[in-house]
Amino acid sequence: MLEVIILAAGRGTRMKSSTPKVLHPLAGRPMVMRVIDTARQLKAERIHVVVGHGAEQVSAAIAAPDVTTYVQAEQLGTGHAALQAAPSCLPQSTVLVLYGDVPLLTTEVLSEVVNAASHSPVLLAATLDNPIGYGRVIRDSNGCFAKVVEQKDASPDELAVAEVNTGVLAAQASELHRWLLQVTNDNVQGEFYLPDVLGLALDDGREVSVVVTDRSSDIAGVNDRAQLEELERAYQNRQAKALMADGVRVMDANRLDIRGSLSCGVDVVLDVNVVIEGDVVIGDGAIIEANCVLKNCSIGEDAVIHAFSHVDGAVVGPQCQIGPYARLRPGAELGEQAKVGNFVEVKNSVLGPGAKANHLAYVGDASVGADANIGAGTITCNYDGANKHRTELGKNVFIGSNSTLVAPLKVEDDGFVAAGSTVTATVGSAQLAVGRAKQRNIDGWKRPVKPKK
Ligand code: UD1
Ligand code: CA
Repeated sequence: MLEVIILAAGRGTRMKSSTPKVLHPLAGRPMVMRVIDTARQLKAERIHVVVGHGAEQVSAAIAAPDVTTYVQAEQLGTGHAALQAAPSCLPQSTVLVLYGDVPLLTTEVLSEVVNAASHSPVLLAATLDNPIGYGRVIRDSNGCFAKVVEQKDASPDELAVAEVNTGVLAAQASELHRWLLQVTNDNVQGEFYLPDVLGLALDDGREVSVVVTDRSSDIAGVNDRAQLEELERAYQNRQAKALMADGVRVMDANRLDIRGSLSCGVDVVLDVNVVIEGDVVIGDGAIIEANCVLKNCSIGEDAVIHAFSHVDGAVVGPQCQIGPYARLRPGAELGEQAKVGNFVEVKNSVLGPGAKANHLAYVGDASVGADANIGAGTITCNYDGANKHRTELGKNVFIGSNSTLVAPLKVEDDGFVAAGSTVTATVGSAQLAVGRAKQRNIDGWKRPVKPKK
């Protein structure tokens, strides 16, 4: 049985933030949640998270039936942190220790670590071009593991070693617990170091395995905002590459941000500065132009979302044309070939196939029939200050420009509303509604004159 301990109590001082470090999002999800996700993918039976700095906030954010939290009141080191949770693990379990601020480790390499731990304690190492800051893995003359030395405790020779401790470690629970109790804080930082358990394992006559990963970007930890930005770009790049491999045209992998999940058909085009949030599905051949934000929505095949549009909680049908500068809000549902043009806002409304609102309109709490045309400047007055009311427009309805549709209101199929009307009562099928003052022309009109200076 596998149990995972995640260390997440550290202060994260260098983030200079009032938010605990592990709650800072990477690709839209708090780092510690990504580590918990990874533990779940590994099929961990139980997940133990050690919290400390911002304990209440972190505990609230990660609360789940399979997650237990432990409060490390004082941050006395990684060994001390692991000791908060280790006694709660079942003795025969394999325990994998992960860090809440190392969010990109993949399950492939971690499975290797877990498998190796059935024989002996395991450390995950990596060889880095720049090992500064990491604990170094020191090997004996036979190339076997000897110890981990922290940067601050290392001799010049040891500092020259490029093989580093990623922080990931696995061992049998009862052994890990026993060794953790023996760890001392006799070092430069006066901390209880988790990797010291491996030296104690050797003292016990146990072998220590070292799994070495060559995916150095995966093992990176986040200590400051610059490292967080680096990891964010690395992760976004990974996602962009995967999309391209699946047949998506990504105009610039460095200018695409997926903060959630994106599923794309083939020949989708994602232009620069597209931001994806939540769950988004895009059908074959759809084009998302520059600077669009798509959140929890689905975009039909061959639809075009023109530049600077914001789509949130909407369903966009095949071959629709949206924007530029359109805003689709939750509950907007657009049938095939519908068009929503610049500066049009649509909320909680169904537009039938071929329906159009091409310029400057507000369509809220409405149903709009197939091929209906909503003129520029039209608004549905859906709110009376207390309640929302619906507007129902039938098939092939024509709403002239600058009309005010006061809900609740119905315009039946083929109904026609003259431009500039305020419409408050039902318009029957194929009727013309003119809801405006009749024009008067006044003869002999004297223009106002400017006063003489
Ligand atoms: C640690 C390792 C180092 C390794 C590096 C990899 C030790 C002593 N050193 O160093 O060998 O190369 O990670 O990134 O283990 N934490 C607690 N409670 C504490 C202290 C830390 O929960 O009392 C948590 C932190 O929140 C963090 C993790 O443990 O998630 C690592 O702590 P950090 O102080 O960042 O360790 P490093 O100095 O980076
Ligand atoms: Ca660290």
